[in-house]
Amino acid sequence: MKTIQIGKTGLAAPALAVGCMRLNRLSRTEAERFLKTALDLGLNFFDHADIYGHGDCETLFAEALGLSLSSDLREKLILQSKCGIEQRDGNTIGYNFSKSYILRSVDAILKRLKTDYLDLLVLHRPDALLDPAEVAEAFQNLKKAGKVHYFGVSNQNAAQMALLQKYWDEPLAVNQLQLSVANCALISSGINVNLPSGAAGSPDGSTLDYCRLHDVTIQPWSPLQYGFFEGTFIGSDKYPELNRVLEEVGAAHNLSPAATAIAWLLRHPANFQPITGTMNPTHLRYLSAAADVQLSREEWYAIYIAAGNTLP
Ligand SMILES: NC(=O)c1ccc[n+]([C@@H]2O[C@H](COP(=O)([O-])OP(=O)(O)OC[C@H]3O[C@@H](n4cnc5c(N)ncnc54)[C@H](OP(=O)(O)O)[C@@H]3O)[C@@H](O)[C@H]2O)c1
Repeated sequence: MKTIQIGKTGLAAPALAVGCMRLNRLSRTEAERFLKTALDLGLNFFDHADIYGHGDCETLFAEALGLSLSSDLREKLILQSKCGIEQRDGNTIGYNFSKSYILRSVDAILKRLKTDYLDLLVLHRPDALLDPAEVAEAFQNLKKAGKVHYFGVSNQNAAQMALLQKYWDEPLAVNQLQLSVANCALISSGINVNLPSGAAGSPDGSTLDYCRLHDVTIQPWSPLQYGFFEGTFIGSDKYPELNRVLEEVGAAHNLSPAATAIAWLLRHPANFQPITGTMNPTHLRYLSAAADVQLSREEWYAIYIAAGNTLP
């Protein structure tokens, strides 16, 4: 499995991360099989969040792998989790980046994952009431206690990251952002600079370039979806041309159409680390093949255009 460096951490990680948002849809036996497949493929980077399955995904993960504080397996894994979305009775009641909330969340995550440290902690969604100095204090506290090694953000733009960096003096390692070929304003805004077309705006404040400039690893989430959880474009009637081109390009590289969509992300020189969401071991195996393939420029642009993205 091809590896990439995560930000400036020195951590070498597989080019694909395994997202665990739907792990609780699996039985214990299915989860064991799925996670074993991931590890056999060299996919040892797992993305969690405290809210996935209201904590059940983290609990099942630890159970299925037989994790414990003395487990030898732990150091072979790279565990990332997220906090900051506050829920009550399954409903989101707000975002919360207060120091006490972050510290409490991490303790609960560690307990569920049956570990004493996270490799990475990611702030899930920007809190409107953010006090960056308080977040930095929380990070400092977690780092000093050895509970978290590195920190990142999710769904943040360049200015939000820069604001946090004014107070937190270690480089943010990752920014987890929604990104697929069917949902790629992050990329298309940079192609359409200074044009009056709909794609011209850069509402994210050049987040892609900020991350490249500061060596922050972008982790595309929902790499196979369109809209906001509207479904996957793979095999969708809404994307006939994209599916045709993914099939054609994939055939040339012995990749499935879904793996080709992942190869499209991996072809970007920013060294994205896409987070897969499949819970199907066969799908995961197919997707992992994308890491061994380098699409040509022509193939990359053909897929970009086939998804309905335009070039000026
Ligand atoms: N930071 C954030 O705000 C945020 C938000 C959402 C998600 N995430 C993270 O990103 C991860 C991925 O998100 P996602 O699940 O939306 O990603 P995704 O990989 O785009 O979507 C996965 C879904 O596509 C389906 N699918 C259909 N055909 C497939 C094929 N041929 N190959 C693979 N999958 C196929 C999967 O079903 P099968 O299981 O049947 O394959 C699964 O339901 C999550 O697990 C989570 O860790 C982060």
